[in-house]
Amino acid sequence: MLEKIEKIKQAATSEILNVQSLADLDSYRIKFLARKGLIADLFDGIRTTDAIERPQLGKVVNELRNEVQALYDEKKQILESRAGQKKQIPDLTLPGRLRWVGSQHPLTQTLDEIKRIFFRMGFDVATGPEIEDDYHNFEALNFPPDHPARDMQDTFFISDKILLRTHTSPVQIRVMENQQPPVRVIMPGRVYRNEAVSARSYCLFHQVEGLYVDEGVTFSELKGTLVAFAKEFYGSDIKYRFRPSFFPFTEPSAEMDITCFLCKGKGCRMCKQTGWLEILGCGMVDPNVYKFVGYDQEKYSGYAFGMGIERITLLRYGIDDIRILFENDVRFLKQF
Ligand code: PHE
Repeated sequence: MLEKIEKIKQAATSEILNVQSLADLDSYRIKFLARKGLIADLFDGIRTTDAIERPQLGKVVNELRNEVQALYDEKKQILESRAGQKKQIPDLTLPGRLRWVGSQHPLTQTLDEIKRIFFRMGFDVATGPEIEDDYHNFEALNFPPDHPARDMQDTFFISDKILLRTHTSPVQIRVMENQQPPVRVIMPGRVYRNEAVSARSYCLFHQVEGLYVDEGVTFSELKGTLVAFAKEFYGSDIKYRFRPSFFPFTEPSAEMDITCFLCKGKGCRMCKQTGWLEILGCGMVDPNVYKFVGYDQEKYSGYAFGMGIERITLLRYGIDDIRILFENDVRFLKQF
């Protein structure tokens, strides 16, 4: 009897190693642990043995049953947790998580569009330093020594003769110093003014300057170019007008207005009830400027224009506070 018990014990311990699935495990259970299994057989067998041996044999078979039951339970747990893991394999058909890719700042978008339009008309791009000298920012642009624009109120001076440029016009001078006509460039960049910060003005903003100098350039070319630009940028249905104006470095000078695109010229808050929006300053390059850069003023003529990017952007999107363009608030930027 003891021999038989030992054999069954060996079979049970080695066969559990071959169990690979829940189905295998069930066969194992039926073979060893079920009511008609081998261990139940042993209990039956005990009844036919000597009464003296019975308690001892009963104890051994009981131990065997507990051991086999433990093997079974352990294997069952392993197989079930493996099956559970299988269910957790990710569903590869689910759509992926979208990544936040960001967007271009509205000022960049406006500038890019302006650049694209002038590229097509044959303009190159030039840039210059934001820290300028008095000569390029004022003197060579024909500002008289006592001109109010040089006032401490408007200009951030770094030293007596060094300052943060107040407009992109000094880049005109730098381009003409380095290149003989024909020149046809736009010059985008940051400019600085020492003004109280408010919804309408900020201490820093962006401009795009334009310059075209060649033989026989006329005011009507200036108008034609700017009208073509405005129609492309604001829409072909806008109306426009040129008003006489003054800049030290252009003569004659003008400012260009377009019909307010919010009210179509009827008058609203955006155009301050006038129906018109001022979009840029322009004029024919003053011959005095050619003296500073060494161009032959008898031979060449040209035009220049300048526009503020912030103003155009605010108008375009109907934003009423310039400061929001510089706060980098993602709730604002996400909308573009
Ligand atoms: N620089 C001028 C300004 O800042 C704009 C301008 C540029 C006017 C070129 C005429 C020609 O207001």
